[in-house]
Amino acid sequence: KEGMLNVWNEDSSSKNLIPRLQKVRKNYLSMNKYNVTYVGQKNTAKLSPEKLLCQLRDRVNVTMINGSDGPFATSEWQKYLPRKNLSEEVGHLGRCAVVSSAGSLKFSHLGPEIDAHDAVLRFNGAPTNGFQQDVGKNTTVRLVNSQWYRKPDYNFFENYKKYHTKHPDQPFYILNPKMQWELWDILQENSLEDIQPNPPSSGMLGIMIMMTLCDEVNVYEFLPSKRQTDICHYYQKFHDRACTMGAYHPLLFEKNLVKHINQGMDEHIYTHGKVTLPGFRKVRC
Ligand code: C5P
Repeated sequence: KEGMLNVWNEDSSSKNLIPRLQKVRKNYLSMNKYNVTYVGQKNTAKLSPEKLLCQLRDRVNVTMINGSDGPFATSEWQKYLPRKNLSEEVGHLGRCAVVSSAGSLKFSHLGPEIDAHDAVLRFNGAPTNGFQQDVGKNTTVRLVNSQWYRKPDYNFFENYKKYHTKHPDQPFYILNPKMQWELWDILQENSLEDIQPNPPSSGMLGIMIMMTLCDEVNVYEFLPSKRQTDICHYYQKFHDRACTMGAYHPLLFEKNLVKHINQGMDEHIYTHGKVTLPGFRKVRC
C-alpha cells in the first residue's frame, strides 16, 4: 500500500517547517548575500520528471577546475591540479551510491548494500571506521566543502595546497563553482516558493556528480527513511532539525526535486532511505 507510507512529500512547502527554520529561510532571502538576481520563471508548474532530467543533464555543467581556467592558469597551479579530468580518472561507472551523512543512517545496516556498488561517494568528514555496518567501508569519491576543510572559506587555496602536499597521490579536484548556480536556477524554476539564495547542499551536488559519472545512482538517506531523526550526522550526537530540512541551503527544495525524479519505490525510501536516479548517459531527451 504505497500511498500509506509516510515518505517525503515532493510538494513540501516552507510552511511545513518548524517556525525557527521558517524564520531562518526568510532571513536568508532578505540577506541575499550572493546578490542572486533571478529573472527566470516563478511559481509555474514544475516540469515532468523526464523533462527535468533533461534540463539537469543539459544545463548543469559538472566540470572541475583545470589548469587553463582563469586564475589557475599559472605554473604553480599546474603542479596541484589533477592532469586527468574526473571522468577519465574514474572511468565509466555502473551502479553508484551516494551516502548522505544523515543521523538516520545509524542502525540502518545498509553497509553491505552500499558496498555492493561500483563506486561510493561520501561527504566531508563522514567516517567509515566504526560505522561499516551502517554506511559501508568503500569510498571512491569524497566531496569536501571549503567550510569543512579546516573551517573558514577564506583559506581555501592554501588549504587545498597543503592537503595536496600531504596526500600527493590523491587526485584532488576543485568543482567549478558555476555549476552550483546553474543547478540553483533549475531548483528555483521548479519550486512554488522563493528558495534560499545560497548554493545547493553538498548532498545535491554529490548527486549531480554521480549522475554524470554513473549509469545508475542510489542515494541513501537524503530523503529520510522511517529512521528520520533530528540527529544531524550518523557520526555525531549533535541535534538540529536544520540538517535534514535546511536552513542555509535550499535543502527542502532539493529534496522535493529529488523525490520528483525518483525512479525507485516509496517503500525503498521508507525502509532504506533509498532513491534511485538514472545516470545522465541513460537519459534520452
Ligand atoms: O553535513 P554534510 O554537508 O557533511 O552532509 C552531507 C549532505 O548530506 C548534506 O549536504 C545534505 O545534503 C545531506 N544531509 C541530509 N540530512 C542530514 C545530514 C546531511 O540530507 N541530516
